[in-house]
Amino acid sequence: MWLSGGRMASVGRQSFGSCFRVLGRRGCNTAAVMPEAAGFEGVSDRSDLQDFSVCSSDSFWAAVARQRLSWIRPFHTVQDCDLSQGRIRWFEGGKLNVSVNCLDRHVHTCPERVAVIWERDEPKSEVKLSYRQLLEMTCRLGNLLRRRGVKKGDCVTIYMPPCPLAVASMLACARIGAAHNVVFAGFSADALAERIRDAQSSTVITVNQGVRGGKVIELKKTVDAAIQSCPTVQQVFVAMRTENPVVMTAKDVAMEEYVFSYHDGDVFSCVADIGWITGHSYSVYGPLANGGTTVLFESTPIYPDPGRYWEMVQRLKINQFYGAPTAIRLLLKYGDKWVHKYDRSTLKTLGSVGEPINTEAWEWYHRVVGQGRCPVVDTWWQTETGGICIAPRPADPDAEIVPGMAMRPFFGIKPVLMDTEGKVVTSNDTSGALCIAQPWPGMARTIHNDPQRFTETYCQPYPGYFFTGDGAYRSKEGYYQITGRLDDVINVSGHRIGTAEIEDVLNQCSAVAESAVIGFSHSIKGQGIYAFVVLKKSIDVQEADVTRQINDMASKKIAKYACPDYIQFAQRLPKTRSGKIMRRVLRKVVDSELEGLGDLSTLDDPEVVQEIIQGHHDLL
Ligand code: PRX
Repeated sequence: MWLSGGRMASVGRQSFGSCFRVLGRRGCNTAAVMPEAAGFEGVSDRSDLQDFSVCSSDSFWAAVARQRLSWIRPFHTVQDCDLSQGRIRWFEGGKLNVSVNCLDRHVHTCPERVAVIWERDEPKSEVKLSYRQLLEMTCRLGNLLRRRGVKKGDCVTIYMPPCPLAVASMLACARIGAAHNVVFAGFSADALAERIRDAQSSTVITVNQGVRGGKVIELKKTVDAAIQSCPTVQQVFVAMRTENPVVMTAKDVAMEEYVFSYHDGDVFSCVADIGWITGHSYSVYGPLANGGTTVLFESTPIYPDPGRYWEMVQRLKINQFYGAPTAIRLLLKYGDKWVHKYDRSTLKTLGSVGEPINTEAWEWYHRVVGQGRCPVVDTWWQTETGGICIAPRPADPDAEIVPGMAMRPFFGIKPVLMDTEGKVVTSNDTSGALCIAQPWPGMARTIHNDPQRFTETYCQPYPGYFFTGDGAYRSKEGYYQITGRLDDVINVSGHRIGTAEIEDVLNQCSAVAESAVIGFSHSIKGQGIYAFVVLKKSIDVQEADVTRQINDMASKKIAKYACPDYIQFAQRLPKTRSGKIMRRVLRKVVDSELEGLGDLSTLDDPEVVQEIIQGHHDLL
C-alpha cells in the first residue's frame, strides 16, 4: 500500500495523461493539445515536447502541475529526488486536495456532466451520476466520516466492488485528509485482515453483498470474519448493494443509497476493478481529474454472454475502452460473432494493460473490435509507477504502432535498459532490465511502514535508477517491447528465454486461444518448458495436430530449444480477477507441491485448480 500523499502526487501526471489522449485525437497542434507547451521555448511539436519533458523535466512538470491542478498553496521546489538514496520528494511546500481537483473544479464549469457510469452486474441496468451528484455524495460521506471520528492521517479500509459509493468513499477520504486502503473485493477474510492490520484502520467501508456474474458474494460476512483479528477496527460502514438484509453488530453503521441522473458526454471505460491500480488511476482519479465520464464495470466479460463488453459499448456510447489482454484472449476464443452483433462506431481508442499482449490478440482487438480504425495502445506501467510510462501516442502525426509493442516513453519518462553487469545498454535491437533514469511525480515514494524495502527493491539494484523488475527489448527503431517479469525467464540448456516470448509464438497457432508457459527442473537441460494451452471454442481440431503445429512454429520462430517438453491442454487457466495468470499455481502443480499452493483467494474461480491438477496427472 502506498502513502496517500504518493497517490495525490500521481494525479498531476494522470491528469496530463488522460487529457493528452482525449484531446490528442482532435488536433495535433502541441499548444492546443497541451496549452502549457505554448510557453516552452523552442518547443513546436510533440517530438520537441518529448525531448523537453525529459531534458528540462523540472520546468516541464512545474508547468503541468501549475496549469492542470488547483493548488491550495503553491509549491516552492519542483522536486528534490535522489534515486540512489530512495529519496522522492515532489512539489515541496505545495498543498492540494485531490478530491477538489477531481470534483469541485468541474462542478464549477459543468455540474451536470456525467462523471460516472456504473455498469452494474445486472445487464442493461446502468446508473449514471453527474459531477454535482458525485460531489454531494463525497461531501456527505466526508462529513459522516469526520463526525464518526475519522481524522487527517487515519487510514480507512474500503472493501467494496466498483460502484459510485466506492468512488465517493475514496474521494471522501482524500477530502478530509485520510488515506484510503482499497482492498480488492475478491480477497479472502485472511487477506483482508492482513491489510486492515497493516493500515491500522479503525474504519472499514463495505457493502452487504456483492454481485458478480449473477452470483451473490457475501462481502459483509467476510468483513465480519476479518475484523475478528483486527483490534483497531471500531466501526464498519455498510451500504446496501442488494436488498438482502445482513446481520448488523454494534460496530456496524448502516449507510443510505442515492438518486442518479443522466447527461450526455464523452465516455471513458476502464474495465479494471478499482481494487487494482488500473482502477485507481484510470477509473477514478484520471478521468475525474479531467472532468471526464467514467464507466465502472462490476461484471465479467462473459456474463450474461461473451457480447457483454460490446453491448455495453453500444449502449453507453463508449469512446475509449481500456482492458486486459487476458480478457481479449478469452473473447477471441468465442469468435467474432459476439463482437459483430453490436455497434462499436463510438469507439475511438482501444487500450491494453497488465501483461504482454500477444500478436494474435492485438490483431483481433484491432481488426475485429476496432474495425481496423481504432488505434490499439499497449500501455506499460505498474502499481509503483502510478500511471502509464511507455505507450504508443496515436495522435502524433508520425505515430507508428507496431502490434504488441508498448512503443515509446510517455512525457517525462526516460527508460533505460541494463545489461547483466549493471551497465546501461546504449545500442538498439537489444534486451535488458528495464529501469527509469529519472524520477517523475506519479511514482511511488515509499512503502507504507517499510521505507527500507522500497529502497532495496526499487533503488538499490541499479543505483541511481528506478528498477521496474521487468525485462524489455528495444528495437532497431528505438521502440520498446516488454518481455515480462525478469523472474519469468527460463534457462533451457543455457539459452535464456522469456516465457512471454514462447507464449507469443504458441498463441499464433490458429487453434490456440491462450497459453501459459513455465519452467520446470530438467535433469539434462537444467530447465524444461511446460506449456498449458487453451484451444479456441470455435475451431474443431485434434490435439496431436495442434502439438505438431506448436513445435513447428516454436522451432521456426525462435529455435528448436523453444519447443515445449510437455503440452497440457486445458479448458481454462487459473487467473486472478484482475486477469493475471497465476503462474505460481501452475509451477506448484508441475513441481507436485500441492501442499504449498498458497493463498488462492484472489483466483477468479478456484475450481480451475482441480482441473489443472487432473490434467497434469492425466498427461503424465
Ligand atoms: O510486468 C509488467 C506487467 O504488469 C506489471 C505491473 O503489474 P501491476 O503493478 O499489477 O499493474 C498492472 C497495471 C498497470 C508490470 O511490471 N505489465 C503491465 N502492463 C504491461 C505489462 N507487461 C507487458 N505489457 C504491458 N503493456
